[in-house]
Amino acid sequence: MYSIEVSSLSKSYGDTTAVDGIDLKVEKGKIFGFLGPNGAGKTTTMKMLTTLIPPSSGTMNILGIDGTKAPLEIRKKIGVVLQQPSYEPTLSVEKSLEKYGMMWNVDKKIRKIRVEELLVAFDLVDIRKKKNDDLSIGQRRRVQVAREFMHDMDLLFLDEPTVGLDPSARRGLLDFIKSKVKDGLTIFFTTHILEEAEYLCDDIAIINKGKIIAVDTPDELKNKFGREKTIKIHVSEQENISALLSAIPGCIIERDSGVMITVRSSQSEQVLQDVLKILASNGIAVEDLSVVPTSLEEIFLSVVKSSNA
Ligand SMILES: Nc1ncnc2c1ncn2[C@@H]1O[C@H](COP(=O)(O)OP(=O)(O)O)[C@@H](O)[C@H]1O
Ligand SMILES: [Mg+2]
Repeated sequence: MYSIEVSSLSKSYGDTTAVDGIDLKVEKGKIFGFLGPNGAGKTTTMKMLTTLIPPSSGTMNILGIDGTKAPLEIRKKIGVVLQQPSYEPTLSVEKSLEKYGMMWNVDKKIRKIRVEELLVAFDLVDIRKKKNDDLSIGQRRRVQVAREFMHDMDLLFLDEPTVGLDPSARRGLLDFIKSKVKDGLTIFFTTHILEEAEYLCDDIAIINKGKIIAVDTPDELKNKFGREKTIKIHVSEQENISALLSAIPGCIIERDSGVMITVRSSQSEQVLQDVLKILASNGIAVEDLSVVPTSLEEIFLSVVKSSNA
């Protein structure tokens, strides 16, 4: 069962193709991470999927409903937290939640219970009487995300919900989302932070320049791209080491400042042996050497970079 099924979906703004023929399938009850750098097309995709803007072309089926034919049907069943702030300046935190529940026709008793639940879950108890205008950006964002949980829904769209949150609020939000998915909710979550997607998501699609360049589970992404290690070599004298090392199979030279050289490889053990052999046979002394797993952030950047090439 898919909650989202999208085929050849595109959106152009004049000459700009913001989303360029993407295919997507999101299984019911899963957290789907939509990951990409700024300007990649995440928000535009989300706006189409939530029927806020019409696609230029392509088809989309949301919760079994044709997105171009019955957008209002879809909107009744989904929750959406957009990237831009949205709040009523003079309303208090608890009133914001309460009012949002009313808008969705949530029964009064249930509203009351949910407000209390969400105030606790989003760490808003101490500021429940404060007006939105008097909140920090992070606090406002927490209210904005929290209120979406006032109503029942089958599918929730979150556009970069953790931007502006401190690390503990960030972790709190991710864990809250996880707990909701256990109850059967499906989530479409955009972020430009790979660690976040890895922590939260069952599947991740990476989008760049409007095109999807990888879709997989976080583990598979790491397997495919993450076996790499980064080797940093510090030598005592300026030498043209790149030229010497470029012949080693599977060795990617990343930076060379003369005395500091950084290489990456998925066969790091073999490459390391070759590097040491070559340096020794050329009489080059090694001051310092380190081998570390290439970070997820670097994997993400290198996948994006290779798709730009
Ligand atoms: N309303 C708009 N009019 C013109 N161009 C837009 C509009 N919205 C987005 N774009 C452009 O479309 C591209 C994708 O933007 P967006 O979907 O906001 O990316 P992301 O959310 O991944 O940062 C960018 O080049 C952006 O400048
Ligand atoms: Mg965006």
